[in-house]
Amino acid sequence: MEKIIILDFGGQYAHLITRRIRDLGVYAEILPFNVNLEKLNKIHPKAIILSGGPNSVYEDNSPRLTHEFFQFTIKNKIPVLGICYGHHLIMYHQGGTIEPKKNKEYGKAEITILKQDLIFDSLEKKEIVWMSHGDQITNMTEGFKIYANTETCPIAAYGNAERLLFGVQFHPEVSNTPKGNVILENFIYKIADCKKEWKLEDWIEKTIQNIKNEVGQLNRVILGLSGGVDSSVVAVLLHKAIGERLHCIFVNNGVLRKNEEVEVQEEFTEKLKFENFHYVDATELFLQRLKDIDDPEEKRRVIGHTFIKVFENKTIELEKEFPNIKFLAQGTIYPDRVESSATSVVSEKIKSHHNLTLPKDMALEIIEPLKDLYKDEVRRIGLQLGLPKSVVFRHPFPGVGLAVRIIGSIDKEKLDILRKADEILIEEIRAAGIYENLWQAFCVFLPLKTVGIMGDYRTYENICSIRVVESLDAMTANFAKLDMNLLEKISTRIINEVKGINRVVYDISNKPPSTIEYE
Ligand code: XMP
Repeated sequence: MEKIIILDFGGQYAHLITRRIRDLGVYAEILPFNVNLEKLNKIHPKAIILSGGPNSVYEDNSPRLTHEFFQFTIKNKIPVLGICYGHHLIMYHQGGTIEPKKNKEYGKAEITILKQDLIFDSLEKKEIVWMSHGDQITNMTEGFKIYANTETCPIAAYGNAERLLFGVQFHPEVSNTPKGNVILENFIYKIADCKKEWKLEDWIEKTIQNIKNEVGQLNRVILGLSGGVDSSVVAVLLHKAIGERLHCIFVNNGVLRKNEEVEVQEEFTEKLKFENFHYVDATELFLQRLKDIDDPEEKRRVIGHTFIKVFENKTIELEKEFPNIKFLAQGTIYPDRVESSATSVVSEKIKSHHNLTLPKDMALEIIEPLKDLYKDEVRRIGLQLGLPKSVVFRHPFPGVGLAVRIIGSIDKEKLDILRKADEILIEEIRAAGIYENLWQAFCVFLPLKTVGIMGDYRTYENICSIRVVESLDAMTANFAKLDMNLLEKISTRIINEVKGINRVVYDISNKPPSTIEYE
């Protein structure tokens, strides 16, 4: 299959570009900017895109390419498109000049297109684009032509059609550049001559066949199923491939949402008719181990360890009955594997995360059918496989569950209060028809007592914080600007219906600087 490689110069730009290229119909993958040429040569990319990034090319420790890199692309006729930082970088290596701009430019700009073909084929003379830069090219090398400018940026796009090097100062990958997709399409189809062959329907068929080949006629597969979209899609793919030889283990860790264990069991055993769905109720064990622990990292550690132990024990039990269990399937997706920033900025560990990985000594071979996909691709596959929308569009729910939504120590009483409040919130959000537009909506239990009045009685109860965010990938998130009447309804219902809460607050923090979850 033809591939386009996105070289990552930092931030989230690389993922966004990759998603756009795939949506346009060509398979794309991210590699770190300093990938060696041998590897690139093996991949034989149809084109290379250099992402944006936070650095300035003239700074000492900025990520750069090499002279050999450009020799390689020019010799092999591999087109290269530089975006923002990538735009500067191509020119830097080709001998041009890049300088800091007096006034940084951020936001919408109008470009005048001087060359309405190649990357700008079928665009108007004037187009709106999204700019975000502090540097600009002030001098180009011979052989390069200016393709577009703006009032304040004389070289907003350039190209050297002979060397197949192109650059755009703005971001065609963001939705604020309305014709951005046309520019990317021109690059991948007209300049790089790619075939439109990345289709999810083909992917499903091929993946099911691959699973069949890999697992063979007799072996069995174990899968930790949480009911979230990733593990659910893996489950359905595997079930289609190997039927009853798939064994799903669903662990009730005591910190699930209301009715979650019932809903997931019903979906897979009754509706989807999975033959081997193993429900393990470990509520007591988890709650006993979590007792009196109030440190967030310790809670995560305890839940992680306990989960692994419970899962391992169940697997050992199953292996006695089915000695041909040889594989462990996991719902790992592409962003879980690829660091979002490959540059020198190493992101600090903020929370011990995320997906629980099982110990290597379980001696099972790993299958990860979704390892090259983005979340939205997983969702589309889920729908095609016939999973209901309620599963496919379910908000993400952390493996550590409600434990990180109760500040301080956890007990059954607090969990029950939180579950009731959360159920009301989700009911109201669904009734307002906005559930699917939101990344997450949930309640948090704050064990902070304040005074209230109910009827003629004084109350002295806890606070419930409501967290509702919009996001594309959880890397950044904005609190949702919910309608005040809706918030009032939610607050009134929670205070009236949930004993133990007498005050509701709405969280108006964005990520960063806050995180989505509270612990
Ligand atoms: P934060 O709180 O870091 O969360 O902004 C980002 C996204 O990750 C989810 N999350 C987790 N998911 N195990 C998971 O499987 C975890 O331990 C975990 N912690 C946070 C969170 O819900 C949000 O979508």
